[in-house]
Amino acid sequence: MCGIVGYVGPKSTLEVLIGGLRRLEYRGYDSAGVSVISPSGHLETRKKAGKLGNLVAEIEEHPLPVANIGIGHTRWATHGAPTDGNAHPHLGGKRQKLSLIHNGIIENFAELKAELVAAGTSFSSETDSEVAAHLIAREFEKSGDLVTAFSAVVVRLHGAFTILVIDEDQPDVIVAARRNAPLVIGLGDGENFLGSDVAAFVEHTKRAISVGQDEIVILRANSVEVRSFDGKPVQLEEFTVDWDASAASKGGWSSFMAKEIADQPQAVADTLMGRLNSDGSVHLSETDGLSHEDIKNLERIIIVACGTAAYAGDIAKYAIEKWSRIPVQVELSHEFRYRDPIITKNTLVVAISQSGETMDTLMATRYAKEHGAKVLAVCNTQGATLARESDAVIYTHAGPEVAVASTKALTAQITAGYLLGLWLASIRAVVPAAELKRLGKDLLKMPGRVSQVIAGLKQAERLGTEMADAKSVLFLGRNVGFPVAMEGALKLKELAYIHAEGFAAGELKHGPIALIEEGQPVVVIVPSPRDEESLHPKVISNIQEIRARGAKVIAIAEEGDDQVASYAENVIYVPQCEPLLAPILTVIPLQTFALALSTAKGLDVDQPRNLAKSVTVE
Ligand code: M6R
Repeated sequence: MCGIVGYVGPKSTLEVLIGGLRRLEYRGYDSAGVSVISPSGHLETRKKAGKLGNLVAEIEEHPLPVANIGIGHTRWATHGAPTDGNAHPHLGGKRQKLSLIHNGIIENFAELKAELVAAGTSFSSETDSEVAAHLIAREFEKSGDLVTAFSAVVVRLHGAFTILVIDEDQPDVIVAARRNAPLVIGLGDGENFLGSDVAAFVEHTKRAISVGQDEIVILRANSVEVRSFDGKPVQLEEFTVDWDASAASKGGWSSFMAKEIADQPQAVADTLMGRLNSDGSVHLSETDGLSHEDIKNLERIIIVACGTAAYAGDIAKYAIEKWSRIPVQVELSHEFRYRDPIITKNTLVVAISQSGETMDTLMATRYAKEHGAKVLAVCNTQGATLARESDAVIYTHAGPEVAVASTKALTAQITAGYLLGLWLASIRAVVPAAELKRLGKDLLKMPGRVSQVIAGLKQAERLGTEMADAKSVLFLGRNVGFPVAMEGALKLKELAYIHAEGFAAGELKHGPIALIEEGQPVVVIVPSPRDEESLHPKVISNIQEIRARGAKVIAIAEEGDDQVASYAENVIYVPQCEPLLAPILTVIPLQTFALALSTAKGLDVDQPRNLAKSVTVE
């Protein structure tokens, strides 16, 4: 994981690096560090364990010189504990004039380290990354050219890496490479940037180029060159970042998560914009990589994703199957390719990922492509690897999501799932077009309903705050409410570090009901009673079963459900909508509940322990 930023140009390099790291800190926050080269040609490095604030304090105490070139890193530890010594940058060689930052894992580092140790190199950290710093420094001593030295070493590294290097003896250039880890170039006027994603530099420029697999970047203030690992020049394709820099700042909110929960009406509206007409028909131009013939021939859809994105996939499954009658299975990306799945050319793999850099999901999609499937990505980040490697992309327009816990990206992913379902259904034409348009029109109303939910979150906030001492919370749901229950439990584990589990309510009597004892809090997602096939009566029975055994119930129910109040201690009402669309609304109080409970426990909601936003290791 780790966040990487590089800058060369006339601005205050330190400010650019620290600003970039602040926006990338979601990628890891075990330690942070920077190296700069002063105009007089001296490399200086500061690094510190802990969050970025510790590094900033260190620099205040030991200031860095004004500089026109530098690199910065925020770490999610893999090899070596989160200490000052293991923090990046790492210096290479006896000269200690070369500085390197790395995101990823160098899988053959032990073998390379043994080679270096045998040659007399001593190490000052336990990281795999330091190996690359010494190898490049050694090559530099031979050739006197940083690009030549760098190119000779990256081909020897196995695994995943984005690496940036600067050297005091060639102070005008940053050399970088990527394999299986993200790297994006930001283009400026007389200045250029590098970042793990566009958030690193969007404050300064919206012109960007994403770096391909196994490519080397040679970055100077006035030039950008990209070569493949085997030295061939790479044609650069520029894109414009559509994120607003202010969207990646807290803007007066107590946390990024609080802000991002409130951003959801916009995230849903922006994801629908230009794709859903006022008559309810869907227009998905981004799917041009898939022909109508491809869709008509589809035998199966496999959704691959991890964590919250997988729950978005679970919800999409209900809608896609119901509307298009195409069988859908949802697979955790990391399980998918290791069980020899059945994939044919008539399989569509839908990969859902906010970051588009989740290694498990990238590996799953590569596997699917190798086995002949078409891949459609649902992704929130322009220029991300997943988007580049897929046949078609539906971008979720949630804007930058900074808090580690996913909120607005989820509701945007669910929205994209519904759009996909309606689009597939319109091509397969199993459900009458008029019915699809009716559903589309209801989907158009969702941003307004999300706003209503957001306006009424006080109750969820109060309940979360009151339950700060809870040791365990269970979540129950049925049909589309089941993945919502799973997501509610994930949010609580992730943010409040307490035992939380989501169950299909119908499964309760097959085991989990044994967990219920006096006072056990249980959150129940209650389906709409208006649906003819509604599971409402069954869920009410489930509530009675657990209350009879002492559970304290918080129900999430739709407005107008008059029965539920007599079966629950607390009811949080959300607006009525088409029952299959309800997850966009019912999940929001659960986000706020987890945020409030975590806040009441005094925890860091934006950067929960042990986690990183973007999981770029397998
Ligand atoms: O970037 P992705 O959507 O691929 O990330 C997938 C999961 O790592 C992510 O959703 C994770 O579960 C969230 N932190 C949950 O809030």
